[in-house]
Amino acid sequence: MENTFKGITDPFVLKNGVRIPCVGLGTFKLTNDAEGVQVIESAIVDCGYRHIDTAAAYKNEASVGKAVKASGVPREKLFVTTKVWNVDRGYSQARQAFDLSLERLGLDYVDLLLIHWPATQKHYMRWEQVNIDTWRALSEIYAAGKAKAIGVANFKPSHLEALMDEEIQPMVDQIEFHPGYYPKETAEFCRENGILVEAWSPLGRGKVLESPVLEKIAAAHKKSTAQVALRWILQHDALPLPKTTHLERMEENADIFGFTLTPAEMKAIDEMPETGYTGQDPDTVDF
Ligand SMILES: NC(=O)c1ccc[n+]([C@@H]2O[C@H](COP(=O)([O-])OP(=O)(O)OC[C@H]3O[C@@H](n4cnc5c(N)ncnc54)[C@H](OP(=O)(O)O)[C@@H]3O)[C@@H](O)[C@H]2O)c1
Repeated sequence: MENTFKGITDPFVLKNGVRIPCVGLGTFKLTNDAEGVQVIESAIVDCGYRHIDTAAAYKNEASVGKAVKASGVPREKLFVTTKVWNVDRGYSQARQAFDLSLERLGLDYVDLLLIHWPATQKHYMRWEQVNIDTWRALSEIYAAGKAKAIGVANFKPSHLEALMDEEIQPMVDQIEFHPGYYPKETAEFCRENGILVEAWSPLGRGKVLESPVLEKIAAAHKKSTAQVALRWILQHDALPLPKTTHLERMEENADIFGFTLTPAEMKAIDEMPETGYTGQDPDTVDF
């Protein structure tokens, strides 16, 4: 399959018509404020990133907000995602948590708001209802225009199904997705339901970059293994969110448009042995 993106600001279009730049900058573990501001501002100004992925749990929303302002790029040209953390599940907690996120970001709205992890039967008797209650908070935030789009993260089809009868349905599911961990079943469910998949840890936190499968394909295209990993994700119609603090890697991760993986190369990566999986199954994680 070949998509027609020519650069990182070309958009996927969500089911509500919102346009989302097809590569985003991850910010997990970017917890030092000064470094965070510098890295994110540089991604925007020097590298042309327009899509930043943060979360209340990353403790860097304030850095993202400062970088957005310092960049001088008009707010409407940027796409900022944040997420409601697990301790804030439920209707009123999620509403309050979002207000605090906005305050830390110093923004009037976010472009995308996600439930960070599903409530599951491991921690809740009525887990479906907890997810519905949290979802209704997000739906109201969306209706009030304070989030331009809403969605979930780490939801498997069983968790998504419990939300599919809601008036507003999830527009995005952000899940672990990288060579060595291809979550095909969730991706197919999302495709069938018009939900955009965003790929977290698209480089397997660096652990997949020495895979012989990727090395061979990278050599054939004169690209790096990181570029092949990100390209594979895009060709699966998923949106990669690579995180890096290094300018040259930001540039490398943005330079994934001048080549196309063949169907055989796609298949070889689909079928790679499990590599770099975090082991964070949403049904069994402890947080
Ligand atoms: N929703 C969720 O539950 C969830 C969970 C995890 C992550 N996420 C999101 O997804 C983003 C990305 O995931 P991640 O941070 O876990 O991992 P990742 O993006 O797969 O990997 C990041 C690691 O790869 C290195 N790296 C980046 N580009 C590289 C390149 N071109 N060549 C070699 N190494 C490179 C980085 O090092 P340097 O920084 O030193 O360059 C860093 O150590 C997060 O930052 C976060 O925004 C969401």
